[in-house]
Amino acid sequence: MPNLTDDIVHWAEQASADAGRVTVEPDLRELGGVVRIGDGVAIVDGLPTARQDEMLRFAGGGLGMAVTLDPGRIGVVMLSPWDGIAAGSRVERSGDVVRVPVGDALLGRVIDPLGRPLDTLAAPLCHRTEPVERPALAIVDRDLVSRPLATGITAIDAMIPIGRGQRELIIGDRKTGKTAIAADAVINQKTSDVVCVWAAIGQRTSSVNRLIDAITRHGPRERTIFVVAEASGPPGLAWLAPYAACTMAEYFSEQGRDVLLVIDDLTRHAATHREVSLLLRRPPGREAYPGDIFYAQSRLLERGARRAASLGGGSLTILPIAETQGGNLTAYIPTNLISITDGQIILDPKLFYEGQKPAVNVGLSVSRVGAKAQPPILQRLAGSLRLDYAQFLELEVFTRFGAMADEHTRRVVEHGRRIRSLLIQGNTQVRPLAEQVAGLLALGENLLDPLPPAAVLAFKDGLAAWLAGECSDLVGRLEAEGDLDSAACSDLVARLKRFVAGLPS
Ligand SMILES: Nc1ncnc2c1ncn2[C@@H]1O[C@H](COP(=O)(O)OP(=O)(O)O)[C@@H](O)[C@H]1O
Ligand SMILES: [Mg+2]
Repeated sequence: MPNLTDDIVHWAEQASADAGRVTVEPDLRELGGVVRIGDGVAIVDGLPTARQDEMLRFAGGGLGMAVTLDPGRIGVVMLSPWDGIAAGSRVERSGDVVRVPVGDALLGRVIDPLGRPLDTLAAPLCHRTEPVERPALAIVDRDLVSRPLATGITAIDAMIPIGRGQRELIIGDRKTGKTAIAADAVINQKTSDVVCVWAAIGQRTSSVNRLIDAITRHGPRERTIFVVAEASGPPGLAWLAPYAACTMAEYFSEQGRDVLLVIDDLTRHAATHREVSLLLRRPPGREAYPGDIFYAQSRLLERGARRAASLGGGSLTILPIAETQGGNLTAYIPTNLISITDGQIILDPKLFYEGQKPAVNVGLSVSRVGAKAQPPILQRLAGSLRLDYAQFLELEVFTRFGAMADEHTRRVVEHGRRIRSLLIQGNTQVRPLAEQVAGLLALGENLLDPLPPAAVLAFKDGLAAWLAGECSDLVGRLEAEGDLDSAACSDLVARLKRFVAGLPS
């Protein structure tokens, strides 16, 4: 019979030796409690070491982000529905700032700002997360904007060119085609390798669906991420959306790729920021926006940059959209955004109702850095275009009243009408470089001036097919080099003359 006593003694010795090795530490955790909750924000107490932007977990699985840290009280914006959470509910720190998944798995997906799927597919499998708030690149880590980002819209590519790494504001009243321009810019990346990220903030679900549908049908859907914060969702998600989308976009630019980020729109984002701030009892400033609204938007847009070659040379181009009321560009948010960005595309409701779409106000719109990145041939052709068009707009007012016009004025106006006609471009009908160059060459050589309006339309409609059929050699050269020498230009003009002569008059 085994010696039971010995066994017990042996086991006891073993256990006491193990116990000597095991270090039992107290599990210290701060437990906070909800003081007040409602309208998408909560006041929490009892978390003395919580950090700015920290993710907080509520009992029952709710998520929130710490945005104001006052002694003994934390202001939290909710990132999930808050029903079921009440005063007294428990809150715990997560120990980390709010992060979002980043990676190739997000491409082609429709997700919410925390990376959760909104399409019918499984959650995207990402191996990395990054904080939503990240510092912008230092100046020495940036390079000059030197490569074009073609939007496929002649009025923009020729006269308000955008470069990769630029921040260009699209601004105008509601229903003037702001979203349509940004969508076309994304659709035009079908033929490039630019990764696109679209942040839709507080838009109607039907409009977001229409946009996704258009990009799926005409654009690079497989290379686009849609980050959607619905109008009906928690305000915290709408607030987070542009930062989250920017982090997702930066992942690709850090890998040396060119990325286009559209933020539709920052006016709504500012309104959400104001709503959250007022609910958290921060002091209101001008137009009731809190004092940090400029910082909130500038730190976001500063993240748009062309990275230095030593950092991979990628770029993050940002097209933020802003909505004005009654065309008032001097309101608080529009002026802020205009001062932060590298230029603005201003849309004019009057032009839109007259049928001049895209309704870009060429006189007021500017691009402060894009001209250096413009393909050289467009640069040459666009110089006279801007001038001719501006002259026309000035003179047209007089001719409208039937005033007598001399021969020179008449010619300027007739030429201007051809320019205007050529600049009209339908939704999703993006034009490759060759088509833009051929159109501008025909204008510059006054080939369209003798044509009646119907023939100008026939020219526009038939140009793409004609180029593909008759000029594939020149189109290939143009695409490869972004330029044509003068001999090739003359060749193209001669061919265009034959094309124009064959148009029905
Ligand atoms: N270039 C265009 N040609 C024809 N229709 C357009 C064009 N741009 C926009 N639209 C139409 O105008 C409407 C408003 O455009 P949208 O981009 O949604 O405006 P916003 O974003 O400024 O409110 C849409 O129905 C759109 O299809
Ligand atoms: Mg819109």
